[in-house]
Amino acid sequence: MKAWVVVRNSTSPKDALQLKTDLPVPAPVMTGNNILVKVSHAALNPADMHFMNVLPTWLPFRRTATPGLDFAGEVVATGPAAGDEFKVGAQVAAAMGTIHVTFGKGALAEYVVVPADMVSLKPEAMTLGQAVGVCGVAGQTAAIMVAAADIKPNQKVMINGASGGVGSVLLQVVKAKGAVVYAVCSASNAAMVKRLGADEAIDYNAHDPLETFVAEKFEGGQLDIIFDCAGSQPLYSNSPRYLKPQGKFISIVGGRTQGIVPYVRNKLRPVFLGGTPREFQLLGLFPAGVYARQAAKWVDEGVIKEAPIDSEFPMEEVVQAYEKLAGKHAKGKIVIKVSA
Ligand SMILES: NC(=O)c1ccc[n+]([C@@H]2O[C@H](COP(=O)([O-])OP(=O)(O)OC[C@H]3O[C@@H](n4cnc5c(N)ncnc54)[C@H](OP(=O)(O)O)[C@@H]3O)[C@@H](O)[C@H]2O)c1
Repeated sequence: MKAWVVVRNSTSPKDALQLKTDLPVPAPVMTGNNILVKVSHAALNPADMHFMNVLPTWLPFRRTATPGLDFAGEVVATGPAAGDEFKVGAQVAAAMGTIHVTFGKGALAEYVVVPADMVSLKPEAMTLGQAVGVCGVAGQTAAIMVAAADIKPNQKVMINGASGGVGSVLLQVVKAKGAVVYAVCSASNAAMVKRLGADEAIDYNAHDPLETFVAEKFEGGQLDIIFDCAGSQPLYSNSPRYLKPQGKFISIVGGRTQGIVPYVRNKLRPVFLGGTPREFQLLGLFPAGVYARQAAKWVDEGVIKEAPIDSEFPMEEVVQAYEKLAGKHAKGKIVIKVSA
């Protein structure tokens, strides 16, 4: 089968990746609750590039490591305990588990083996190419963010990075909860975020520094929740100027690139040592079927109406697709057409 493999650790996808065309299809004999999926689409995530760069290629289990988390496709074989829901022919979407990708069993391959409890059936109203992001990391991350926030109707919620893969899904769910949504993005994405449900788009380029503008707009602390999908330390440090005392600042940007510093600084440093007196949460997704199914349910219920897609690339052009992602201005998901 065709699959991309990481041939060297690098921050440059061009140096890190090679397309192989002669890899064996995995698991000809299916065991347990595993399912074999013929992948029609994959979608890219910034985390893929961390895996490529960080996990050494000399590790025995990373010799032909395939990257990629999000996939969608058709079930072509099942293990004896896979259950009735995921029969041969079922169309599914999900994200590979962190452990699968660590061991090089990523989504940028024509076939993947995954436990049935990691996946969701494709929502009726979406194609596989649309479901791949919604039920993948973006939609799953939106699910953990919404669960952490406990959003109430009419609360004022700001989303930083609202036009990206995660933000564009999160925005629709937050709006459906009845919140008043302020979406931070560049001017070229204002129309899109408004279409997705934002009450107002805030152009961070026109209002630089953003926190000064936001402090004037929400003077005295009017916001209930800030979701940060772009990773801005000043936005948190200044949050007492615009976030209510009992408000929440929920970020998903941290991890390897910034180490545990934001977590320690923002979460554990007491106010008398200069800490910011607002609740800070740094969330990390471990992909799971329960989140994929939550995202699919939101589509079925009409909460998620759209799966914004920045672009679709053929399997052969994954390097160009990652280069686009690395530019950090994707409008929704970058999708790969893996096979027919
Ligand atoms: N913790 C977790 O479990 C988890 C899960 C998923 C993602 N993440 C992280 O969350 C971040 C977003 O992921 P994603 O998949 O949504 O990425 P993405 O699709 O690449 O989205 C990037 C978005 O960021 C916006 N952006 C860039 N610079 C900005 C700035 N200075 N201020 C405000 N917005 C800015 C861009 O909007 P404009 O083009 O309009 O500027 C773009 O829409 C990444 O850092 C990713 O690693 C973490």
